[in-house]
Amino acid sequence: MSSQLTPIDMAKFIAAKQATEYVEDGMNVGLGSGSTAAWFIQCLGEMVRDEGLKIKGVPTSSQTAELAREVGIEIVSLEQVKWLDLTVDGTDEYDRNLNLIKGGGGAHLREKIVATASERMIVIADATKKVDTLGAFPLPVEVVPFGLAATKGLIEETLVGMDVLGRDIKQRMHGDRPFVTDGGNLILDLHLRHIGNARLLGFILNQVPGVVEHGLFIDICDMVIVGHGDGKVTVRDITNDTSEVVQYDVRDDDNIFADIAE
Ligand code: A5P
Repeated sequence: MSSQLTPIDMAKFIAAKQATEYVEDGMNVGLGSGSTAAWFIQCLGEMVRDEGLKIKGVPTSSQTAELAREVGIEIVSLEQVKWLDLTVDGTDEYDRNLNLIKGGGGAHLREKIVATASERMIVIADATKKVDTLGAFPLPVEVVPFGLAATKGLIEETLVGMDVLGRDIKQRMHGDRPFVTDGGNLILDLHLRHIGNARLLGFILNQVPGVVEHGLFIDICDMVIVGHGDGKVTVRDITNDTSEVVQYDVRDDDNIFADIAE
């Protein structure tokens, strides 16, 4: 089936596949959201089904919960397990310090709660997600519906003193209706183009009443696994300061795909 995948999907798939190396029997695993995380969940489901892997999964979105159930992963709530061994999730951007922008799918609140309740967070991505400076991807900010205009105004004021290149704020829509998160909140996308000091911006956004959570993940991610369309996977562990390259054989006759996308 490898020939049916676009290079980007191939990259996402092999990054996800490599991340399964860090999953062990008995673990509580945070399950991220988005298309890259979906590959990881498919891979885990295959291991549960074919290899008898025993794990409990905590999903970061209703979509992820649905997929995890479909592929046979036992789902538990964070309340039940309280602490996770590992979370594997995608990202919208990552920089050299493995700081991230997440929330392109609007799930960053639960993603951040789950990742920070985990011993380790691994991000899986294709190479297009690497940036020198965060901010080309619009920064998602989840806000409560009450006082939306006031909250937006306060964020606009906050941005005036910040090292950013754009200050446009757009409410995220789903067709002609406001996009609503799993928590019943709204999303404001901040088109900043360049975030000079992501740590400071994240801190300041969290001071704005009405802001539930922003999509900056600072000092949360421990490892990034990046897939490339040619089968190369790079693994960078920031806690041990190690890098490793793994080569997957992605020719058409290769069996790494097993029956995962059938
Ligand atoms: C979901 O809210 C996001 O944080 C996703 O993890 C992020 O958008 C990456 O998604 P893709 O893997 O689909 O690019």
